[in-house]
Amino acid sequence: MTVGGIFISFEGIDGAGKSTHIDRLAQMFREQGRQVTLTREPGGTPLAERLRAMVLNDPMDAMTEALLVFAGRRDHLLQCIEPALVRGDVVLCDRFTDATFAYQGGGRGFDLEMLSTLERWVQAVQGQGGEFTRQPDLTVWFDLAPEIAAQRLQGARVPDRFEAQPLEFFKRVAAAYQSRMNQSPQRFAQIDAGGTRENVWDAVRLALVNRGWLA
Ligand code: TMP
Repeated sequence: MTVGGIFISFEGIDGAGKSTHIDRLAQMFREQGRQVTLTREPGGTPLAERLRAMVLNDPMDAMTEALLVFAGRRDHLLQCIEPALVRGDVVLCDRFTDATFAYQGGGRGFDLEMLSTLERWVQAVQGQGGEFTRQPDLTVWFDLAPEIAAQRLQGARVPDRFEAQPLEFFKRVAAAYQSRMNQSPQRFAQIDAGGTRENVWDAVRLALVNRGWLA
């Protein structure tokens, strides 16, 4: 069993149903004696949570949106994620940079090269061998057809600026997640999120067991 810090992110279009599985994983890691840092993006620190409220609610152009999510990410990495990994925690992060490529890149059509540049700047951290770009050790992608996600979201709550987008937007978001996975297949576990909750949970648990992180 790995004892060092582990960084796991969770991704998927709105309505894909990540939350209950993230909570269940946190509980399972704790039962197996691990310290867990449960966090999310946008957000995860007091500053980044304030930026989250703006990103989800205030009208703005795509570049402003991209800069705000990366600004929050920098604070979140330095104040929360990196210290947790140094302590040896399991960091379970509900969304990370793949969401920026999916929503701002795919959904809004913002320049992917510029997102890649921001990713390298913002995720540059110090490690034993010098500076490197922090990425999750594993990204669990809840893959669900946008049509089904839209049905699940119907009437669930007052939609934010993303949830209010049309089906076409989510089709682009889903396609952008797919191409992020194609670029780093070893980092991703693609989960069919269309099954029953128990089937999805089995697939999530198996992805972590296969990596030797859960018994
Ligand atoms: P949540 O509802 O899963 O917490 O996610 C909040 C919304 O923020 C979701 O619609 C996706 C969006 N988002 C971005 O647009 N860019 C990002 O970088 C992140 C992390 C989330």
